[in-house]
Amino acid sequence: MKHLLTASLKPGMITGENVFAIQGRLLIPKGTTLTRSMIEMLNAHGVPMVRITDEIPPAPAVSSPTYMQRVRESEEFARFQKEYDEHIERFQTVINDLVEKNTSLNVDGLLHDTLSLLYQNGQSINIMDMLMNVRHYDDSTYTHCINVALICHVFSDWLQFTKEQQRTATLCGLFHDIGKLAVSKDIIQKPARLTKEEFDAIKEHSLAGYEILSRYDIDEHVRNAALMHHEKCDGSGYPHGLRGPQIDMYAKMVTIADIYDAMTSRRVYREPICPFEVIRQFELEGIQKYDTRFILVFLENVVSSYLNQRVHLSNGMEGDIIFINRSDLSCPTIRCDEGFVDLTEDKNLYIEYII
Ligand SMILES: [Fe+2]
Ligand SMILES: [Fe+2]
Repeated sequence: MKHLLTASLKPGMITGENVFAIQGRLLIPKGTTLTRSMIEMLNAHGVPMVRITDEIPPAPAVSSPTYMQRVRESEEFARFQKEYDEHIERFQTVINDLVEKNTSLNVDGLLHDTLSLLYQNGQSINIMDMLMNVRHYDDSTYTHCINVALICHVFSDWLQFTKEQQRTATLCGLFHDIGKLAVSKDIIQKPARLTKEEFDAIKEHSLAGYEILSRYDIDEHVRNAALMHHEKCDGSGYPHGLRGPQIDMYAKMVTIADIYDAMTSRRVYREPICPFEVIRQFELEGIQKYDTRFILVFLENVVSSYLNQRVHLSNGMEGDIIFINRSDLSCPTIRCDEGFVDLTEDKNLYIEYII
């Protein structure tokens, strides 16, 4: 038995005692094989040290490819990735010229190029799965803006927007972070934790984006989305601490797509977060921060796209999602070999990843 700093824990290690949160709640029982997300959770709860058994973790079993591996190995994905990389390069040139040289803006061309990523041979593709796998480690502003635009496009379909509204929503995503190009690259690309001053400088991007877009003849919702996409309906956002009715409806959509993209994207220091964990985070943070008409439709559709999908649970069991609990979206019912598992009944149990 050894006592290790939480920062030194590795997936596969086995807990030698019950691990409690500071408030006394049991986080992980004794004898649990730790996973990456469990270690993240211990960090998030500020648990400093954990007692670990001397058992050698078993070597990971060689298993068939996961769902995401199958997506990555598909022809559809290879084609998407090529077109996506090419589009990012073109988008980067257009946006840089826009910010630095005040060149004219061809909105229709940009939109057409972006939307062409959604189709192959005239068929629409599952863009959420593609994005989950395509993300680059640098996660540049350009890549992120294209991702948010594509998510907004799908999202506006779920909201049954008209074609014109869908076009506006996609443009709002495409330009929402343009103001980041006016913030120092050293801060934007800093791989470590930001100081308060640096974070304040980043917050300037909302206003900067609004100003850049004001130079162009562009829909006012697009300008507003750049300005307001960090506002929250409970008044806790920035730059102006606006409340629900004061925030542009398209900015509210972008806020949700923006957070979803940031959390499900791969980072240098972590793999993409499982969509069910993202949904749990939205629920934990409080969906009242978002427009409930939008957030519920978004989360329900993301969850529904995984119906019948095989998943791996935090206790090691595997099974198929057979029922979505509308009142508790991150906790569906799973059919495992051992029987049905209703995740609403055991809050310590969760979906670790999609197989
Ligand atoms: Fe932003
Ligand atoms: Fe963003």
